Amino acid sequence: MTLRRRTFDTVVVGAGGGGLRAALQLANENVRVAVVSKVFPTRSHTVAAQGGINAALGNVMDDDWRWHMYDTIKGSDWLGDQDAIEYMCRSAYKLVTELEHAGVPFSRLENGTIYQRPFGGQSQNYGGAQAARTCAAADRTGHAILHSLYQQNLAAQTHFFDEYFALDLLRDEEGRVVGLLALEIATGEPLLLDAKTVLLATGGAGQIFKTTTNAMINTGDGMAMVLRAGIPLQDMEFFQFHPTGIAGKGMLLSEGARGEGGYLINGEGERFMERYAPNAKDLASRDVVSRAIFLEVEAGRGCGINKDHVLLKVDHLGEEVVKKRLPAIRDLALTFAHLDMAREPIPVYPTAHYTMGGIPTNRFGEVLGQDGRMDLPVQGLFAVGECACVSVHGANRLGGNSLLDIVVFGRAAGNRILQYHRDHKHRLTIPEGAISHAMERLNRWTRYGEGESTALLRDELKEVMERYCGVYRTEEMLQDGMEKVRELRKRVESVVVQDQSKVFNTALIEALELENLADIALATVVSALARKESRGAHSRIDYPERDDDKWMVHTLFSLGDSELDYKPVNMEPLTEPSIPPKARVY
Ligand code: FUM
Repeated sequence: MTLRRRTFDTVVVGAGGGGLRAALQLANENVRVAVVSKVFPTRSHTVAAQGGINAALGNVMDDDWRWHMYDTIKGSDWLGDQDAIEYMCRSAYKLVTELEHAGVPFSRLENGTIYQRPFGGQSQNYGGAQAARTCAAADRTGHAILHSLYQQNLAAQTHFFDEYFALDLLRDEEGRVVGLLALEIATGEPLLLDAKTVLLATGGAGQIFKTTTNAMINTGDGMAMVLRAGIPLQDMEFFQFHPTGIAGKGMLLSEGARGEGGYLINGEGERFMERYAPNAKDLASRDVVSRAIFLEVEAGRGCGINKDHVLLKVDHLGEEVVKKRLPAIRDLALTFAHLDMAREPIPVYPTAHYTMGGIPTNRFGEVLGQDGRMDLPVQGLFAVGECACVSVHGANRLGGNSLLDIVVFGRAAGNRILQYHRDHKHRLTIPEGAISHAMERLNRWTRYGEGESTALLRDELKEVMERYCGVYRTEEMLQDGMEKVRELRKRVESVVVQDQSKVFNTALIEALELENLADIALATVVSALARKESRGAHSRIDYPERDDDKWMVHTLFSLGDSELDYKPVNMEPLTEPSIPPKARVY
């Protein structure tokens, strides 16, 4: 078969907000940019972001980007890099205003300015009263932003390869990224994309857990590609559990519900968050609220026949407020819990939500790790959004900061790519060896006969991760979890793709995704086993305290290594004084 080949300046993998914001920056400068997406672009997971995007606009009450910066550093439990956090919080005003001008239909205040709601972990004046910093389009903010960015990209003539699956990066002998091998899902035909630069914006990997807010597409494809290319992943032990997933099902009920005045109650009808976070209460950061729910249920104070969840109450806000501010989650609760939240409380429990770790980058979106050196960018390779670790979220992300992250760093990466193209005028040659190496990944799956089932193995993997690497962890749990993930990874090698070419190649895609999931699960559990402290979302029962002397470092996991590497946290903001660690209380 002759290999189809297309040539672009930049190939963006992933059509969520990060990929589309970067693509727009490039297309507007007449760069030939292609976006490769395994789903139709407006089905990318940004569409599911509900509550809003943070920016210190001060529309509802006084605010300052420096307070936002302080809250983000505290939220990260001092593992976020302060240069990147300063850059993100300073840029927020500009980026949200730009979205407004691009036609994002934000909800409005009486005076016509953008509506902002309180969200978890937000404060005025460096830890004072609750702030209201999250700019919202009802509870469909990601949907509004994604559609606007897609329309702008169409107008700017970005080229889209819809329903193409990225197989592997192509690198030359010197480790420079020179393109990508993709697969057209409908036909099963490979496509070679020759590019000066590749930007990964493939989202998170919530599908490693059984109960998750993440779509089926969130299988960590970009992160796994990077691991296979010999580049490490950073801080993979930090996975965010959102406190309010629909109990037993996992779908997201936005923090916006608590921002609007909703609250949690246990089986005794008590507002238990007052005991865990006396000031912020239900709007403490997500790791704190998730742990509190877990502990209430463990203590026998859960709700329902099995006492296995708590209740989210918004019915006291009145039907008009619920329908105006929270229409999408009302629909979700009606569909999946068969309850109307305007009238009755909804059963909720923590659910896997966000991958804080990922591909190590600097604040320009450059991927770090050329020749194993974390101070050197990999030539031609960029990453943004949830697949990347800048790191602005550190050990725990604040709600509303992920939509901000994607537009801020999408734009920054676009600008750095423009610079890269100015500095590297000539296109490099793709070596034959790189192509055949990437093709091997595809050919490995062309097997017939008897073997393991993708679906069953994936379910087993998700069960293992949920049970052994969840909200609370111990050495023993993680050790068992690691061994089980290792065994499962071996079994993935014997998966047989049963119905290749019969059902739109879904079986082949699911097998490729499973391979990615298994690598990301291993990175997560190995990194969690190594970190012997509790920080942010990583809660070790056997090491309950944060240990700044030993563990103020980013973890670096590589495939094949038995030892992890570490690198220091950047405590130096760009212009502001450093914010030193202190006890994190809400
Ligand atoms: O709760 C939410 O609306 C989620 C927001 C986020 O993860 O940033």
